[in-house]
Amino acid sequence: MYSFLNNEFLPAEKTFVHVSDLAVQRGYGIFDFFKAVNGKIPFLDDYFNRFYRSADFMQLPVSLTREQLKDVVYELLQRNGVTDAGIKIVLTGGCSPDGYEIATPNLVITQHALTMPSAKLLEQGVKIITHEFRREMPLVKSINYTTGVWLQRKVKEASAYDVLYHLQGEVSEFPRCNLFVVKESGEVVTPARYALEGITRKNILSLDGAMPVTAGTVTLKDVVQAREVFLTSTTKRVVPVVQVDDTIIGNGKPGPVVQQILSELVKKEGHL
Ligand SMILES: Cc1ncc(COP(=O)(O)O)c(C=O)c1O
Repeated sequence: MYSFLNNEFLPAEKTFVHVSDLAVQRGYGIFDFFKAVNGKIPFLDDYFNRFYRSADFMQLPVSLTREQLKDVVYELLQRNGVTDAGIKIVLTGGCSPDGYEIATPNLVITQHALTMPSAKLLEQGVKIITHEFRREMPLVKSINYTTGVWLQRKVKEASAYDVLYHLQGEVSEFPRCNLFVVKESGEVVTPARYALEGITRKNILSLDGAMPVTAGTVTLKDVVQAREVFLTSTTKRVVPVVQVDDTIIGNGKPGPVVQQILSELVKKEGHL
C-alpha cells in the first residue's frame, strides 16, 4: 500500500517524519479525514475548505494547491487499487531546529480501512458519559486528542461508546463527533459554539427535510431531557444515543428523527 509524503508516493511502511517534527515534540499539527465511496469522495470541497482553514489558522503553509491535492488523493486511491477507503491528510508543524518554532510542514496522506457502525448498534443505540472539558481551538481540526485518548479508559469502564464534553453546563462536542438533540418541541439542535464544524453536521444542518435543524446553545439539561440524542461523524454517519450517564433518553430506544436524518444523509451522499 502507498502513502504520500510531501511530494512523493512511498510504500506505507516507509513513510516517516523525523522525531524533530513539532507533531512529535509539541503535538502541533492539523489533519482532515474523509471517505471515498465507489471511487468518489462526497463533499471533498467541504473537507478541503476545513483543511486549508485549519492550516491557515495554525500558520502552516500547504505546499499543494487544492487541485494538486485533489489529484494526489485520487492518484493514491488508484495506486492502491481501492474505491472505498478512509483518507487522512496530516500537516505537521515541521522539523523544528529548536523544537519549538514552526518550521516547514510535512504533508502526509494515508489510506485507511473504513468500518461503519453495525446494524445492531444502530438498532440499539449507545450509552455515552460526560466530561468537563473544552478544546483549546474548537474550530481547528488539530492532531491533539490528548483528553479524548486519555478518557478511553473511563469510557470503557463505564461500558460507554463515547464521552461528551461540556463546560459549566454548556455542551460542545465529542472528541471525534458532533452532537444533536431533538428537543421536546421537536426542534433539532446542535451546539453552535466550541465545536468543530463537522462536515456531517454541516450536511445535516442543510437538509431540507420536514423538521427544522439549527445550531444554538445546548445545555446538559437539554441533553438529558431530550426526546432523542445522536452523534455524527464521517465514519459513523449518525449514531443514536439512548443513555447519558445514568439517564435513559426517551424510551431507551432510537427514535424516528434519527432514523429519518440517517436516511436523508445517505441519500445526500449518494447524490453527488
Ligand atoms: C472534534 C471533532 N468533532 C467532530 C468531528 C466530526 O466531523 P466530520 O463530520 O467532518 O467527520 C470530528 C471528526 O474527526 C472531530 O474530530
